Amino acid sequence: MPCKLKFFFLIFLVGCVTIASARVESLFSLNKLRQDSTLIPHLEKRGKAIQLMVDNKPYLVLGGELHNSSSSSLEYMKPMWPKLAKAHLNTVLAPVSWELTEPQKGKFDFHLVDGMIQQARKNNLHLILLWFGSWKNGQSHYAPIWVKKNEQQFPLVKIKNGKHLEILSPLNEQTAQADAAAFAQLMKHIKHVDGEKHTVIMMQVENEVGILADSRDRSNIADKTFAEDVPVQLVRYLQDNKNNLRKNIYQLWKNNGFKASGNWTTIFGEGTAADELFMAWKYAHFINEVAKAGKKEYPLPMYVNAWIVQPQDKGPGDYPGGGPQAHVHDIWKAAAPDIDMLSPDIYLPNFAEICNEYKENDKGFFTPESRSGEDGAGNAFYAIGACNSIDYSPFGVDGNINEFEKGPISKAYEVLSQLAPLILKAQCEGTIAAVSLDKNNPRQKIHLGNYILDVERRHSWDTIGVADKGYALIIATGPDEYFVAGNDFQITFFPDSGSKTAGFDYVEEGFFEQGKWLAGRRLNGDEISTSIRLADMAAKGKTGTVARVAKGPAILKVKLYRF
Ligand code: DGJ
Repeated sequence: MPCKLKFFFLIFLVGCVTIASARVESLFSLNKLRQDSTLIPHLEKRGKAIQLMVDNKPYLVLGGELHNSSSSSLEYMKPMWPKLAKAHLNTVLAPVSWELTEPQKGKFDFHLVDGMIQQARKNNLHLILLWFGSWKNGQSHYAPIWVKKNEQQFPLVKIKNGKHLEILSPLNEQTAQADAAAFAQLMKHIKHVDGEKHTVIMMQVENEVGILADSRDRSNIADKTFAEDVPVQLVRYLQDNKNNLRKNIYQLWKNNGFKASGNWTTIFGEGTAADELFMAWKYAHFINEVAKAGKKEYPLPMYVNAWIVQPQDKGPGDYPGGGPQAHVHDIWKAAAPDIDMLSPDIYLPNFAEICNEYKENDKGFFTPESRSGEDGAGNAFYAIGACNSIDYSPFGVDGNINEFEKGPISKAYEVLSQLAPLILKAQCEGTIAAVSLDKNNPRQKIHLGNYILDVERRHSWDTIGVADKGYALIIATGPDEYFVAGNDFQITFFPDSGSKTAGFDYVEEGFFEQGKWLAGRRLNGDEISTSIRLADMAAKGKTGTVARVAKGPAILKVKLYRF
C-alpha cells in the first residue's frame, strides 16, 4: 500500500476505535443509569421523615384523585389535564382497571396507560396509578369478565346467610396468581414506556379492600383455613413486636394467654375480632403477592388504601373487614412486607386525629383520598406540616373542574408549591409543625425552634369572610425566624427560655418565586395588633401583637427579637 494511503487508513482506524469506544462507554453509562435503582422513584428515610424521591430529589405530592370512571376514556380526560395543572396539582391519581387491561385472558391492552402518560407529560404532571384489580371498595366489579364468570376457578366469598357476594375470595391462590400476573404485565409495561422519564411515580395496589356484610368469608375453604393454626410468621411478628403492638391486638392476644401456637380462636378468642384478623391476614397475603410480582418487574413504591372505620360502624362487615384499618396494621405489616405504606382515605371531619392514628414511625404517611373545599385546604396544610405527609389528595378533582380550578385546594396548592423546598427540608430536620383550629379546638400551643407558639383563630377587626376553620403550617428557619402559612389564624410567640418578651423585628407578607422570598406588605399596626391593655399583656409575657393571616392562604415571614 502506498505510504499516503497507509496514513489515511491509520487515521480511519483510529477514528473507528475512538467512536466505538465512546459508544461502548455511553451505552455502558446508559445501562448503569437504567439499572441505578436510586433513579427509580422510591421512598427514603431522610432524617425525621420518610419521603418520596423522584429523580433522586424529594418530592411533595400536591395531588388529586380522579373519579372512578374518568380514566377509562382518553377523550374524556383530554380537556382535564391542563385544568388540573392550572389548579396547581403536580400529580394525578388515576385508576387503571384489570378489566380494561386484560380484557381477554393473557391479552393485554395498555393504550389507556400510554395515553395517560403522554397527556400527563404534556402538562408537566406526574401520575400515581391505582390498580383496580380483584377489589375496588371491597367488591370485584373491576375484575375482567373471564374472571367474574369463572366461579369455579375464581370463587366468591360466601356470607352467613349462605349467599355468595360479588367479592372474589382472597383465600384463593389462583385468583392471586391471575391478578399478580396482570399487575406484573402492567409494571413491565410502565417500565418499558416510562422507566427513564418517571412520569409514573407510585402505585396503589387494589382499592379499599375487605369483606362487606359479614366479618369473614364462610366458604368451605375459608372455614377449613380458619380452623388451622395461625401462621408461624404472624406469631413470630407478635412475639418480636410485643411491646409495640396496637392496643387491641395486644389485648386480644393477652386475654387468650399470649399463646405461641393454635388456631385463630385459640390465639385471639371467639368473635368477630378474630374473624377480622384472619381476613386481614388473607387480604394482606394476597395483595403482597400482587405487589411482589409487580415490583419484580419495576419496583415503584406501592401502597394499599383503607376504607376507614366510620363512627356508625358496629364491626367488621359494616366497613370492609380485613382491609388495612389502623387497628389491624400489625397483621398487614407481618403479612405484607412488600407493601410500603398503609394509607387511609380520610373523608371524616376529624382529619387531624385520623392522621395521627394512621401515622407509623417506620412507614411513610400518604393519604390518597380526602376532602376538597376549605376543609381540604386545611387538611393539606395539616397532613404535610404535622404528619410529615408525602402528599395531599382530594377525591374527584375532575368532577367540577372549572370550580375546582379556582377553589380553595388550588389556592392552597399554589402556596404549598411555593413552600415545597422549605417544607421538604424542614420535614427531614423536624423544624416543621402545623395546627388545625375549629370551634372545638380553637387554640393550640406548640414548641418549635426557640419559641412556644400560641396559635389561635384570628382576632378579627373585620368579621366578613371568617372561615369555619383556621389552619397554619409553621417552619422554623433560624433561631428567631419563621415562615408561617395558612388561613384564619394568629400566633403569639414566647421565648422558650429566659424572662424576656418576644417582639417583632418584622412581619412580612410575600411569596416565593423560584425559591426566592419576595416580600410584599410589611405588616404592622392594625394588621398585627390584638390589644392595647399593655399592663395585662406584659403580665402575660405578651406585647399585644401577633403574626396573623386573615384572608389566606398566605405566607408570612416573621423575624423576632427579645426585650
Ligand atoms: C372511596 C373509594 O376508594 C373511591 O374509589 C370512591 O368510590 C369514593 N369512595 C367515593 O366517595
